[in-house]
Amino acid sequence: MEKQKELEKLHQEIRNCKKCSLWKWRKNAVPGEGPANAKIFICGQAPGAEEDKTGKPFVGRAGILLNKLLKIAGIERKKMFITSPLKCLPQPPINRKPKKEEIKSCFPYLKKQVELINPKYFILLGEVAFSIFFPKEKLSNYRGKWIKKEGKFYFPTYHPAAGLRFPKIRSTLEGDFKECGRFLTQNLKIF
Ligand code: URA
Ligand code: SF4
Repeated sequence: MEKQKELEKLHQEIRNCKKCSLWKWRKNAVPGEGPANAKIFICGQAPGAEEDKTGKPFVGRAGILLNKLLKIAGIERKKMFITSPLKCLPQPPINRKPKKEEIKSCFPYLKKQVELINPKYFILLGEVAFSIFFPKEKLSNYRGKWIKKEGKFYFPTYHPAAGLRFPKIRSTLEGDFKECGRFLTQNLKIF
């Protein structure tokens, strides 16, 4: 099957998923969006209220900041695949931290997306995304630096939601995305 169609089939499966209890409260699952041949894969944490309402990733306040950061990096959002390890809004209460068992139930979807898209570059937003790809490491030791592992490149940084709360984190994020974009434009000829 064509890759884009296979991805859409997976996303339909996610929209119907009842593997953890979050399905009971969701308005929409948020599978993610972007082309099946994306070279860059952005991984967040979990949908918020705005994402739940629309079914699209990073459309709320954190998404607006993410768009600004991508502009700083000089990379086009529509060329990347954007998703989160958890595909439904954590609740109740709305926006609580995802539970370990929820992440575990949802993980096969992220894994399939990665296998299908097979991107070379990953941008990992925050602790949850980082610990999925590097379970034995500490984010503070790697934040803002590219990590090469088995032919893939990973760039861990803070989650934009943290940048909304703390100005110091926001300026770190801005610096990180500058570095992220510098490396990508050097290594990729698509921009
Ligand atoms: N934060 C995330 O981690 N993912 C989204 O889709 C929206 C906000
Ligand atoms: Fe299914 Fe993931 Fe939603 Fe849980 S969070 S219901 S595992 S799609």
